[in-house]
Amino acid sequence: MKKRVYIKTFGCQMNENDTEKIYILLSDEYEATSNPEEADLILINTCSVREKPQHKVYSEAGRYKPLKKKNPDLIIGITGCVAQQEGENIIKKLPYVDIVLGTQGFYFIKEALETFKKTKKPVVFTELKPDFKPPLILKDDKNSVFTDRKVTAFVTIMQGCDNFCSYCIVPYVRGKEISRPPEDILKEVEALVKMGVREVTLLGQNVNSYGLKEKGYPDFAELLEMVSQIEGLWRIRFTTSHPKDLSEKLIKVMAENPKVCKHIHLPLQAGSNKILKKMNRKYTKEDYLEKIRKLRTAIPEIGITTDIIVGFPGETEEDFKETVEMLEKVRYQEIFSFKYSDRPFTLAQKLNNKIPEEVKERRLKIIHETQAKITKEIYESYVGKEVEVLVEDYSAKNKEKLMGRTTTNIIVNFNTPRLDLKGALVKVLITEAGKHSLKGEYLKTLKI
Ligand code: 5AD
Ligand code: SF4
Repeated sequence: MKKRVYIKTFGCQMNENDTEKIYILLSDEYEATSNPEEADLILINTCSVREKPQHKVYSEAGRYKPLKKKNPDLIIGITGCVAQQEGENIIKKLPYVDIVLGTQGFYFIKEALETFKKTKKPVVFTELKPDFKPPLILKDDKNSVFTDRKVTAFVTIMQGCDNFCSYCIVPYVRGKEISRPPEDILKEVEALVKMGVREVTLLGQNVNSYGLKEKGYPDFAELLEMVSQIEGLWRIRFTTSHPKDLSEKLIKVMAENPKVCKHIHLPLQAGSNKILKKMNRKYTKEDYLEKIRKLRTAIPEIGITTDIIVGFPGETEEDFKETVEMLEKVRYQEIFSFKYSDRPFTLAQKLNNKIPEEVKERRLKIIHETQAKITKEIYESYVGKEVEVLVEDYSAKNKEKLMGRTTTNIIVNFNTPRLDLKGALVKVLITEAGKHSLKGEYLKTLKI
């Protein structure tokens, strides 16, 4: 009988993707369980981008400590960004943790488990090699831990980041930017398509610089074209794009390749040039607006989303106003907004003129209110339109309805006489706009 592994994942899509790889790596010996009480191995896959996650991770780990009394063979491990950042410290603070594997280290989970079982001593692996080649890990029928077939999937195309935005911990915990070989990416997508996946999201901290450092690699626009040749794959998304590297070539591929979805996540972070400079973002708001103009000229229907940070050190009311003005000028479909928080290792952490918490709160609230109005108007403009939706599942709240996304990445819940359309591309008439999704009526099936 196989042993059981329970993985608790914090953070971004990339972390979720890493968790999936850990499941696959372990699949010879372990099956997944959603109940930590019955696990032989518990892993906490951590993220440290925005919060002070140490506390959260430590308290999460603390919940599992008593389980060791019941099952003395239980192995507890911490992986991901916090493991990378804290390394040995974790073992010092939490002596009941057996394995600590960083953002490259998790690929060696099997070796780490072997070593631990032999030595019974904690195993810590947090080396970050600039020339690290992530191994190719392919999903198939045997190693897929979840019986539920997914219509959409993530594929990490690059690791790490070289940009060093002054607020960001990623370059320190995920290391130098490394693009994966295109052959590996293609093989991974092909394997997913064989498992029934119809839409992939290519992941990287800055996908627009994919391949640029590597001799003989395609650039990102070329990679998109290569992936789009895969038969049976219907849609391709990607995230995240850095505005400074968004090329005209990519915009052209987005406009012309029917498989590439008409959505871009283009983090602005702040609207004032002074703050953008202090953030080391390497563009001005004028440069950014010019990119938006080019995107909208080439792809008028494009959905644009963004990330905003409020309360960066030294952000005045004037600076903040410029961010609000940018929301009104660009008219994003949706935004993700955060209060600035000090992260270890970063340059911003050392800056003076930190913004008080209550000011950050107030600014965040204004951002939310401004955006809610714009999102509502954009969503309402869909009412009465017919859109293509790739059906992902039943609606979260109502199993009598189906749910999918528009090419512009808006969630649509719709009524249908047929509930067996998971994985199909259908036409839906939009009848109502909600706050975070659209409602509609099924019209016809386009592809199945
Ligand atoms: N404080 C607040 N938000 C941050 N982000 C990254 N680092 C910080 C920080 N120190 C946000 C950025 C980024 C997103 C992934 O997280 O907006 O685009
Ligand atoms: Fe962080 Fe900037 Fe790299 Fe994004 S581009 S991961 S914000 S350093």
